[in-house]
Amino acid sequence: MKKHIIFTTALFMGLSSFCQKTEIPSSVKNIETKVDSVLNLMTLEEKVGQMVQYNGSWDLTGPASEKGSKEKEERLKKGLVGSMLNVLSVEATEQAQRLNMENSRIKIPLLFGYDVIHGYKTIFPVPLGETASWDLEAMEESARIAALESAANGINWTFSPMIDISRDARWGRIMEGSGEDTYLTSKVAVAKVKGYQGDDLSDPKTIAATAKHFAGYGLAEGGKDYNAVNIGKNELHNVVLPPFQAAADAGVATFMNAFNTIDGIPATGSESLQREILKGAWDWNGLVVSDWGSITEMIPHGFAKDKMHASEIAVKAGSDIDMEGGAYEAGLQQLVNEGKVDEKLIDDAVRRILRVKFKMGLFEDPYRYSNPELLKSISFEEHSKTARDIARKSIVLLKNQNGLLPIKSSVKSIAVIGPLADDKDTPIGNWRAQGEKNSAVSVVEGLKAAVKDASKITYSKGVSLGEGERSFLMPLKINETDRSGIPDAVANAKNAELVVMVLGEDAFQSGEGRSQANIGLAGLQKELLEKVYAVNKNIVLVLINGRPMEINWSANNIPAIVEAWQLGSESGNAIADVLLGKYNPSGKLPVSFPRAVGQEPLYYNHKNTGRPSNPTHVTYSHYTDIENGALFPFGHGLSYTSFAYAEPQLSSNEMKSGENVTLSLELTNSGKVAGKEVVQLYLRDLVASSSRPVKELKGFEMVQLEPGETKTVQFVIDEKMLSFYTAAGKWEAEEGEFELMVGGNSQDVKSVKLDYKK
Ligand code: NOJ
Repeated sequence: MKKHIIFTTALFMGLSSFCQKTEIPSSVKNIETKVDSVLNLMTLEEKVGQMVQYNGSWDLTGPASEKGSKEKEERLKKGLVGSMLNVLSVEATEQAQRLNMENSRIKIPLLFGYDVIHGYKTIFPVPLGETASWDLEAMEESARIAALESAANGINWTFSPMIDISRDARWGRIMEGSGEDTYLTSKVAVAKVKGYQGDDLSDPKTIAATAKHFAGYGLAEGGKDYNAVNIGKNELHNVVLPPFQAAADAGVATFMNAFNTIDGIPATGSESLQREILKGAWDWNGLVVSDWGSITEMIPHGFAKDKMHASEIAVKAGSDIDMEGGAYEAGLQQLVNEGKVDEKLIDDAVRRILRVKFKMGLFEDPYRYSNPELLKSISFEEHSKTARDIARKSIVLLKNQNGLLPIKSSVKSIAVIGPLADDKDTPIGNWRAQGEKNSAVSVVEGLKAAVKDASKITYSKGVSLGEGERSFLMPLKINETDRSGIPDAVANAKNAELVVMVLGEDAFQSGEGRSQANIGLAGLQKELLEKVYAVNKNIVLVLINGRPMEINWSANNIPAIVEAWQLGSESGNAIADVLLGKYNPSGKLPVSFPRAVGQEPLYYNHKNTGRPSNPTHVTYSHYTDIENGALFPFGHGLSYTSFAYAEPQLSSNEMKSGENVTLSLELTNSGKVAGKEVVQLYLRDLVASSSRPVKELKGFEMVQLEPGETKTVQFVIDEKMLSFYTAAGKWEAEEGEFELMVGGNSQDVKSVKLDYKK
């Protein structure tokens, strides 16, 4: 590994000692001492520089093209930039690091961040899809692989996991998180942090993770991106914060704050969230990066007059780094000089930044992520195998009438129809990092490779979906007019024994800025489906999408429906594995599927209301034109076998403070093939100091069973499980009766009562 750290004056000799492990003075015993020693050497300007993050889309290897990039480069050389994002490749990151290390007075290594959301090069299912696997080990493993591929390309910091609870399918970024449940999201948060960061951040195969967006971003009003969030303390503490606390407890190195206001205060300017809760009550000592420009966005929010004012608010609130907002570099120094901001706040931010850099071992070797050998050692083939396995675990079998699936080998002809059937790009999804365009295995390819006689598969597109050039920033154009392919698709369906229709959403229908007021099959897809249905009802509908969709008509008419999300690089192979029965589906929905978009936000863990039902009058909480509840509820997912749940038993129906009880139930595979079931435990606190949800997930177990086999599944019920953020503003379990429920989804459950006494 190359090391060309040039130290020009004696002043830097103290600092240079941090750059060579062997030279660390014996007095420098721990990271805190090292951090302070560096901080003591810094000027105010250099400290503020650490709090500045630049986007690196300008070409470091060629002439500066981006507006203002020459100035940026100059500031980098002066050591007035602490981190960069979107600088890609070993060469580019090394070059940027070199500009900083070889020219700056202070020589503090840069961090290189990037949105590695569901894989770097090898693309895994979008997070919502992957969460449907409920397989925490698998989710940790995909993060580990993403970290390795990123680290081998110069990246040492991912802006992931996104652990915003999202209950609204209209929100485009619902694909980026783990859905509507706080407990499940908390578990995923920990798995992801472990996967990215490993046990030791200084291992150059790991990268720093980011818990984002702190906080409430997923509860944007009306599901419209960047919109206001209007929740009170009860929802904030019981629903939104627990995944973040879990990530903080798991040692996540960084947090990102959020674009939204929450109860009127921009999250980026929220002292209560960042200083009081995160850095205060939780005693977390990592760094907080703003979201892109979210400091200056406090101006249009009507919370700050100008950049200067925005900087003052943000730094006081605890935002340590300004991501490409230009606010800190424009104003912080002056604010300190004018006495408006205490330099102690700047010191606190810089300490947090330096701490992360020390933990990552960057002071020992700023070029540790510029190691081309690491890239050479990676087996992308192995990563693809893992991606296929995780992809098939993420598939959810929504409906399977008369055992239409798995497709029998005796089926002689299969018409594969739909715009997404041969689409090699959409399964890569949005937030695709370095996942190549058109690099996924398509459904047609996957099926042809898996069947003995590929000629029995005939493909017709029918209609197209997303048209023209598609990209992260540009609006997507949907085909609403071109029906020319429909007759061919209908003829193909007519002649086939079975139809596999592959419909859903384009990769760029979900993601940032992709909220939709309609969540049905876009464009001409529904028309195509109905026309095919008119000639052949033997249809398996495969959905490829990033959000829950409105598929009421399909659910009522199509015999088999498979939710295949955007599954990443190995999508088509994974789908073929499930359709052909090589893998028995085991995924469960992490989010409710609505009967109509008007039900959104829709989530299983809602409050009961004072009028949950009324058999004779209309005056209860419902819509008059649609049944209450989800079309497919949270936790739902079928298998090619069936599972029988016995009544749950409690070791005691009473539990006193400090005690535990055990809930046991027998689960039997009552079908004909081996299968895996996710047994879910829910709880309801029947009377409490604030109204509690009708049900909340509190545990789950994955159970593999051979046909006819029975296993006993146990859950230990403890006080922590019964606790919530009470009306008195404390996390505690309150005395009284609890209903404990178990089942294979959030709707079909068997229950027992537990009396809890202090
Ligand atoms: C804005 C997004 O909200 C955030 O999640 C992302 O990490 C940054 N842009 C950087 O790309």
